[in-house]
Amino acid sequence: MTDVRDQYEAFPYPARDPADEAKRLIKGSPSIPVEMDHHLWGGQRDWSQPLRVLVAGGGTGDGLVQLAQLLQDAGKPCQITYLDLSTASRKIAEARIAARKLSGVMFHTGSLLDAGEMGPFDYIDCCGVLHHLPDPAAGLRALHGALAPGGGLGFMVYAPYGRAGVYPLQAAFNTLYGHLPPKARLKHAKASFAQVPDAHAIRRNPNLGDHKQSDAGFYDLLVHSQDRAFAVGDWVEVLADTGWSLAGFTRAGLYDLTAFADVPADMDALTQMAVAEQLRGTIKTHVGYARRADDPAPALPQLVARIPHLGDAPPAALAKAVAADKLPPLRVGAEQITVNIPTKAAPLIAGINGQRTVAEIITGTALGSAEGERLWGKLAAALVPWGLLHYSAILR
Ligand SMILES: C[S@@+](CC[C@H](N)C(=O)[O-])C[C@H]1O[C@@H](n2cnc3c(N)ncnc32)[C@H](O)[C@@H]1O
Repeated sequence: MTDVRDQYEAFPYPARDPADEAKRLIKGSPSIPVEMDHHLWGGQRDWSQPLRVLVAGGGTGDGLVQLAQLLQDAGKPCQITYLDLSTASRKIAEARIAARKLSGVMFHTGSLLDAGEMGPFDYIDCCGVLHHLPDPAAGLRALHGALAPGGGLGFMVYAPYGRAGVYPLQAAFNTLYGHLPPKARLKHAKASFAQVPDAHAIRRNPNLGDHKQSDAGFYDLLVHSQDRAFAVGDWVEVLADTGWSLAGFTRAGLYDLTAFADVPADMDALTQMAVAEQLRGTIKTHVGYARRADDPAPALPQLVARIPHLGDAPPAALAKAVAADKLPPLRVGAEQITVNIPTKAAPLIAGINGQRTVAEIITGTALGSAEGERLWGKLAAALVPWGLLHYSAILR
């Protein structure tokens, strides 16, 4: 752990300047409130109840700042605890929270292995951290011990195939330079990297870019001394072994085997996902949500009673593109995905405002209820697997 802490003291990750908070909010999964609600609470969380949050391994604060800002914007009460080993990272996260004048955040320096002493929490964000622990299962167990019944975990862990080229370089740089302090390690690794041939997988992998962005990114991707990737089957297995069950991946469409093959009738769902991951070859992270295995999945209300939210696309612009049958392909990492939505569903998209139920949206169109529900089904089937449509009553 000392090596990992030394790294993040020398190179807080990701590289962030608190002054940039005046210009933009960095958004990403997990830990977007409507997405959390959709996956963990059936879109029915009572947001008048304060959300007790742990950001475990919060780094320079991306997930922390996003969650604190979005909950404040929605006027929803929360108490957020930030936890990280690195004091240098914490300073940046603190400055970002201060720059935005956000309140209700407590900062702790320490290990998530001790999270059980800090809980209970209704939601735990753990993004890009567990794969850096010597024993990721111990980390998952500690987080499980900090979670309140009915709560949930938002995770991101590395996946192997989309990171092609990374691990041989990490191994080489650790063999060559692992005895040096972080700054010297980086200097030598960069010099060696410059000689890596153009045909090396790292130079051919369009899924990766961190090493080109900043020293912290280069170190985190290529010089890390404690880093492992999980194939989807391994990840779901370690979740199960430590008392968790998968609630869902944010982009379940990535794991859909029907995009590649006729699915053998006797193939179980996890094997299908594992084979799809192998065939797709581009998944570099698994991003999703998990709940305690002893918590039942929430009963979902009738579809028409649910309140839909679109991702960041403005509904009017998306509706216009769909009506004109000119929906551009969706960019997922380095891939382009074609999404098919019937043109007749355009008025339904235009009616989404985060407050209306599906039934109210249908009523606001010239579509009858049967046709409206049929088209809604097609719309949802096209958008939900790509994390572009969620259900949540947070704004109601
Ligand atoms: C790759 S960064 C991710 C930061 C942040 N979650 C994000 O997604 O931007 C990993 C962070 O985990 C922290 N970390 C690693 N092991 C930890 C542990 N056992 N307890 C708490 N934090 C840890 C590191 O200090 C580092 O800030």
